[in-house]
Amino acid sequence: MTVVGPFGLSVQDRDLTRDVQTGMDAVEAALAETVKSDVSFITITASHLIEAGGKRFRPLLVMLAAQFGDPYAPGVVPAAVVVELTHLATLYHDDVMDEAPVRRGAPSANSRWDNSVAILTGDFLFSRASQVLADLGPEAVRLQADAFERLVTGQILETAGPGPDDDPLRHYLDVLAGKTGSLVAVSCRFGSLMAGAEPWVVDILTQYGERMGMAFQLADDVLDIASDGHESGKTPGTDLREGVPTLPILLLQEMPADEDDPADARLRELLQLDLADDDLHAEALRLLRKHPALERARRETLRYAEEARALLDPLPECPAKAALQGLCDAVAIRTM
Ligand code: IPE
Ligand code: IPE
Ligand code: MG
Ligand code: MG
Repeated sequence: MTVVGPFGLSVQDRDLTRDVQTGMDAVEAALAETVKSDVSFITITASHLIEAGGKRFRPLLVMLAAQFGDPYAPGVVPAAVVVELTHLATLYHDDVMDEAPVRRGAPSANSRWDNSVAILTGDFLFSRASQVLADLGPEAVRLQADAFERLVTGQILETAGPGPDDDPLRHYLDVLAGKTGSLVAVSCRFGSLMAGAEPWVVDILTQYGERMGMAFQLADDVLDIASDGHESGKTPGTDLREGVPTLPILLLQEMPADEDDPADARLRELLQLDLADDDLHAEALRLLRKHPALERARRETLRYAEEARALLDPLPECPAKAALQGLCDAVAIRTM
């Protein structure tokens, strides 16, 4: 048994392992090459987060989806490069928006340099992604543009917050579908499309990607509270500090206050305050980690992961299907 990919995803099939590993190695080499600029400072800023690490979750999905056609078709690796570069660019921008100091276990670009450098490097990465994309043809350009519109819309909706008539939970789920579901879905779509899979298979994998993206982001939001930052490579409690209400907070707000529990009362009080204060932030994080709302959020994440898995049912049994199913378990287990 060989392990490839993030979260210790284990792939038991030798041929699949070889195909995926060959693809991922080609992606890695192409990424390093694609971010080189004639201006050495840009090469340094653009390589910074690639070299820092990252799970390469989206390229992995491209490779697994490509198994439903010819995984060695010429568009597969460039498509994986496009989705990872797009993702990477959004991380540079997201860390500016979220004032995040750490990314992939390294200083974020905004903290190593400044906001302007981080924003412009993100733009540079988008331009390089577009250059690679142009060679994949107009249909690919359209799919990527649509996904990117959804991603940016999700980020803007998160920034704007729910309107007075919006249900906060519905708003949050719409944000997730936009900012994360869109690009994960297009990763699955690109892989299968470039490999020449049948249209009904492409559709199923796209739906799976959308659901998987939601589960993945829900897990990320649970981990923002539950993890100590070693596994995630990010600073815990960033959402809380920035006042971005994620699922655990939204569920807590839906639960009736527990009159007999001083910890519940104190947490609700803290959530009304500005958690940019280090002591208040640490106290809120500590209380939230023990609050039943966090366990509820875990269960909800699991439900999304199970829905993603069920979407795969109509596909023929094969090692790639088993690996995609395994990813559903892995994403959910990550939050435990
Ligand atoms: C982080 O994505 C942003 C989210 C959509 C949750 P990843 O968790 O895929 O980040 P890297 O690529 O591994 O750093
Ligand atoms: C990131 O969302 C989504 C995109 C980059 C599009 P978050 O802000 O929740 O992700 P992390 O926790 O910083 O990775
Ligand atoms: Mg962020
Ligand atoms: Mg963000």
